[in-house]
Amino acid sequence: MYKLLLRPILFLFDPEKIHHFTFSFLKIFGSIPFATNILSALYSFEHPKLERELFGIKFKNPVGLAAGLDKDAKLIDELASIGFGFIEIGTLTPKPQAGNDKPRLFRMPEDQALINRMGFNNEGVLAAVDRLKKRNSKVIVGGNIGKNKITANDKAVDDYSYCFEMLYPYVDYFVVNVSSPNTPGLRELQEREPLKNLMLHVKQLSNLKYKPKPVLLKIAPDLTQSQLDDIIEILLSTKTDGVIATNTTISRDGLITPTETIAKIGNGGLSGKPLAKKSTEVISYLRSKLGKNYPIIGVGGIMSPDDAVEKIKAGADLIQVYTGFIYEGPAFAKSICKKLID
Ligand SMILES: Cc1cc2nc3c(=O)[nH]c(=O)nc-3n(C[C@H](O)[C@H](O)[C@H](O)COP(=O)(O)O)c2cc1C
Repeated sequence: MYKLLLRPILFLFDPEKIHHFTFSFLKIFGSIPFATNILSALYSFEHPKLERELFGIKFKNPVGLAAGLDKDAKLIDELASIGFGFIEIGTLTPKPQAGNDKPRLFRMPEDQALINRMGFNNEGVLAAVDRLKKRNSKVIVGGNIGKNKITANDKAVDDYSYCFEMLYPYVDYFVVNVSSPNTPGLRELQEREPLKNLMLHVKQLSNLKYKPKPVLLKIAPDLTQSQLDDIIEILLSTKTDGVIATNTTISRDGLITPTETIAKIGNGGLSGKPLAKKSTEVISYLRSKLGKNYPIIGVGGIMSPDDAVEKIKAGADLIQVYTGFIYEGPAFAKSICKKLID
């Protein structure tokens, strides 16, 4: 029904406008009594075999919503009722920021892909905290944190620390995001020294709490093998609790969309089907080096239940989706869960 009727209409309009329209619609719909129960009845799928425990947290299923869709924690209850086992909010920054100029989000239907250069547009961590205080659902929520564009890299630790402290009472785990291609210089924080310093710092903040919360690192798919080896060493030496692989890619290899169209779109991170292979390769490599017990969340190009199985076979304990959800619609998490049971 979504792919046949709704998607062709939604895809006629500007992607970012449709994003906001769908959010407003779901918010209004969600405020109707029993609406979330109806969504749950339609789109949730529960089974003891789907339950997972990772870094001390119990997940009712391994299918999560990736960061970037509900940056400002506006739709936690509604998204929880459409079958996600966990939702990652953010990337949040200390101060609100507008992000890059529009247009900054593009669909590439021939490739089942998106390109975005949003640039961490968000209402700031305190606005998200206000909303998290009011949520009803008990779904697991991850807080993905970053730095403001105007913050220099040598002051980045302060931004991550502030977001950590503000979100600490309201989220279940944290994600340090240094892998977005759309904030100038951000990916430089993936280099050995700054990354080690940042991860040590955030882990230390967590360890100072009475109840420390897991801290994960989200990485890019565009790293060289030696950069990946450095990251593996840092994950282990800083006792980082897990890794999320991967963010969007800056590569434009192997696309069907005409080169002129791609050139016209310009810079940004590519997500969806063309990212699948690259992200799976990173996951396999991480699994082979980190051993069988190290927590890995796999994300990147999961466009079908079979893709989800592939990520898990490559070594992911949990998976996340973004672009697949846009292309496949609200029943996507449920269809992955059903496949995993089979
Ligand atoms: C429009 C858009 C915005 C995104 N924003 C963020 C973000 O703020 N923080 C982040 O860590 N990842 C962000 N991502 C990356 C996704 O979380 C995910 O890692 C990536 O899209 C690959 O998964 P996919 O192929 O299922 O989309 C964004 C992706 C898209 C398409």
